[in-house]
Parts: sequence; structure tokens; C-alpha cells
Amino acid sequence: MLALYLLGCCWLLTVTAQLGLPGMPVVPDRYNSYGFPWNRTYLPTEPQQIHLSITAQGESAKIQFATHQPIQTAFLKYWSKDSSILLNTSHTQSLTPDTGYRYQVGSVANSLTLWSAEFEFHTPSSQDDFKFLAIGDLGVNNAVTMEQLVKRASHYDFFALTGDQAYDLSDFDGTKGDQYMNFVQPLFASLPYLGVVGNHETAFNYSHYKNRFNIVPYQESNSIDPLFYSISYKSLHLISFSSEFYFDPNAQTKYPLDWLEADLDLANRRRHLQPWIVFMTHRPLYCSGNSSSCHMPSVLSSLEPILLKHKVDIYMSGHVHNYERTYPMYNSSLQTKSYENAPTFFQLVIGNAGQPEGPSDFLPGDPPPWSANRFSGYGFTEFKVSLSELELTHLSVNTDGSLGKIVDHVVVSKTK
Ligand SMILES: [Fe+2]
Repeated sequence: MLALYLLGCCWLLTVTAQLGLPGMPVVPDRYNSYGFPWNRTYLPTEPQQIHLSITAQGESAKIQFATHQPIQTAFLKYWSKDSSILLNTSHTQSLTPDTGYRYQVGSVANSLTLWSAEFEFHTPSSQDDFKFLAIGDLGVNNAVTMEQLVKRASHYDFFALTGDQAYDLSDFDGTKGDQYMNFVQPLFASLPYLGVVGNHETAFNYSHYKNRFNIVPYQESNSIDPLFYSISYKSLHLISFSSEFYFDPNAQTKYPLDWLEADLDLANRRRHLQPWIVFMTHRPLYCSGNSSSCHMPSVLSSLEPILLKHKVDIYMSGHVHNYERTYPMYNSSLQTKSYENAPTFFQLVIGNAGQPEGPSDFLPGDPPPWSANRFSGYGFTEFKVSLSELELTHLSVNTDGSLGKIVDHVVVSKTK
């Protein structure tokens, strides 16, 4: 929005735009000013941007942090919440199940040791079920859900993020990415990250994304690339698969699809242990948003046959900035309105965590027959997963940042 004013002798040009968009600076707003001083000045060797991820079944954790200047040694100090014994190691060793841990990271440079604040996370409980959080499309500005996510982090075992962060991680030589990683630290340092790359992370051959998130368990899932990995966690097999190579004319398509087929083959051999397969990527296959992003034939024709063949349960994406759940469907056609022993996967769009581009609306008129529920406000999704059931709840967050209401709830079940 541009406005031109004549003030006495001079014209004054006022530029009002949605700050925090790609190429625009980040500014304080009501959603990123809730208490954590993420935009302060850090000492040159002080740990910042702390975040963690996990390996299969939560057997170990990987923690990463940044400093402005080189350090001689990076420390990781972690201990059980019930123990006073300190372990000093650069990576966690095997962790004890059903245990809460505290940790700190530290840096040593020129005889100066700087420790971070303490953070907490927990390993898988001894119970069959667990909860995880799922969000998509999160910026530093207009991050409407962030305060609620931080408040609820202890409810979950990890969080999935369906791509597009910071808008953009690479802006201003990566300093917007630094601001973002400090802004999200209260969530990312206490809840393991299992996310996927989006189109706002493709710059410089994905280097800002790959370097900041190289702690995802890709090597543990027989992948050579953090853009493609999977993890088995209790009764869930979660796949993180970049959709962005479909839009890069120079990208190799053979490796991602070969890796996906091999991973799904293995997952199906273990289906008695992990009956639920959730496929996470950035771009949707089907949606009824008012967006050209709901029609991407190259992605659909490539992925849909593979996911059907391997009996994937859920296709979860972001990119479109709203929430939508489909019924089980394929080939653009509704298959059933039942989620019990469904013959095909259904799809979720969860790109409504809050980012500077704002929400996306839906096409006017009635929803298509395969669209089960849709919501154009802000929110987040939680999954409760057990061997026989997967319960999905989408909660809204109001524009004042307060928790809204349950806008969607469905139980998916398998009896055979
Ligand atoms: Fe996107």
C-alpha cells in the first residue's frame, strides 16, 4: 500500500507493506512479542538458535546451535530430570525411555565458556499411545499460533512442520533465518523437529535449510539427503519428502523416488509394528483453496500411484495457507466417507500456523464432494496415535493469539 502526502514544503511518501514477507525485514508484532527476547544482541560466541531432533523411537537426540564467531569446543550437557548426574558429551548417547531430560549447550572460545539456558524434552513413554503436533507455514511476522504452540509443547512427543519457514531463511544473507531460529527457539529447543522443506527454503540449493536442519534423522533412514527421510516412532511411520524437486528443471528425480519406494517397501514389511504411515511434504495433491497451488499435475501424477500402491494412510502438506481435510480419495474422486479401514489415503492441508502473507480463502460455492472439512483461519493440528486408532484434532487460534476452538476432529481406525 502506498500513500503520498503533501506536507508544507515537501511530499512525504509513506510505504505500508506486510513486513516480514520474503525480501522484507522482520519487525516486532503482537505475535512475536510475547516475552522471549529473541531479537536481542548475542555475544559473538554465545549459543543461540538452539533446536533438537530425534532418531527412531526417540532413542537419542541431536541438538544444534549457532554462534556468530568460531568456537574451539561445543558442549552438550544433559541429564535426567530425576538425577543430579551430569553427562558431558557432544551428542547424546542412548537415552532412557520414559524419562524427562534437561540439557544445556555451551561454547568455548578463548578460554570463555558460555552456557545456554536449560531446556527440557522427554523420551517416549511406556504407554502405547502418544501425541504429536503438526503445523505448516510459519513466519516471524504474523506467527499467530506461536504463543499457543509454546504453551502446549509439553503435551507432545515431537512436532511435524510441513515446510515454509521464516519467509525466507536466506533473506538478508541469512540474518532473517537467524532471527527466525531465535524466535522459534522456545518451541524448537524443547520439542524435537521433524519437518520438511518448502519453496521458501530452496534458495542457494537449499543450503540455509540443510545446514540449519541437518539434525533430522536422514542418515538413520538410509538417505543421503536431509530433504528425504523417515522415522518410526511407536506405531507411526512418518515420511518427510521434499516436493520441491518437481519444480526445479535441473533436479534429479530418480534418487528421491527410488528412496521413497525403498522406504515404503521397508515400512510395509514392518506394518505390524507401525500400522500408520503418514507422508509429509510441502505441496498438496488436492485442495479447494482459491489458489493455483491446488492443481499441480506433476506432483499428483508422480506421487499418487506410489502412495496408493504402498497403502499410505495420510498425505499431509502445507503451502496453501488454510486448513482442509479430504475424505479418502484418489484420481480426484471421493472413495468413501468412512475413516475405518479406508481403502485409500486422505489428505490434510495445514498451512495455517501464521505467516506474513496471511490466510488463503476457498473457491466460492459449495466445497467439492471430497472435501470433508475446511477452515480459513489460523490453527494447528494434533495427532493422538495408537496401534488401532489415529485421532486428529485441529484447533483454531484467534487473531488476538488466544486459543480458539476445535474446528475439526476425526478418528481413523484399523481393525484389519
Ligand atoms: Fe509454500
